[in-house]
Amino acid sequence: MTLEELAAKAQACTACRLAEGRHTVVFGEGDPDAQLMIVGEGPGADEDAQGRPFVGKAGQLLNRILEAAGIPRESVYIANIVKCRPPGNRNPLPDEAKICTGLWLSKQIELIRPQIIAPLGSVAAQYFLGEKISITKVRGNWYEWHGIKIFPMFHPAYLLRNPSRAPGSPKALTWRDIQELKKTLD
Ligand code: URA
Repeated sequence: MTLEELAAKAQACTACRLAEGRHTVVFGEGDPDAQLMIVGEGPGADEDAQGRPFVGKAGQLLNRILEAAGIPRESVYIANIVKCRPPGNRNPLPDEAKICTGLWLSKQIELIRPQIIAPLGSVAAQYFLGEKISITKVRGNWYEWHGIKIFPMFHPAYLLRNPSRAPGSPKALTWRDIQELKKTLD
């Protein structure tokens, strides 16, 4: 199956309760041959309305971070743990994440075969590193998952809530992390 065929199939998904409240299935977008895949948590209101990942405020910050590091957004593949917006932007529940990743994200990864995956925030990082991890401990470190390098980073929505740029702040650490990521891509 191709990525397009998988995306088309996902549009009709009703495998979990998140299907009830969604407007659009936000499958993911970007270069199907990407070296780097970015994985967020799930669509928010803007993504649900537009059917594209990371197009709201957090997405605009993600764009600025990628641009500042010299990583074109089009060169990356961007997806989420869950493809449908959780009501009120709550975190996806464990069963929703399990069902959705089993049906879609795992297959996206198999088809794209990125060298590096950067999960953003704890929900995404937990999929690759296990439930017990804390994003503040794992961000900016390299891990391995099924032969793919995993480089967790803070979620841009978290950076929006913590705008300080002081040394050691989440924003300052993210600037260091994105440069480390860029260095590995070169
Ligand atoms: N937050 C996410 O985790 N994913 C999106 O696509 C948008 C906001």
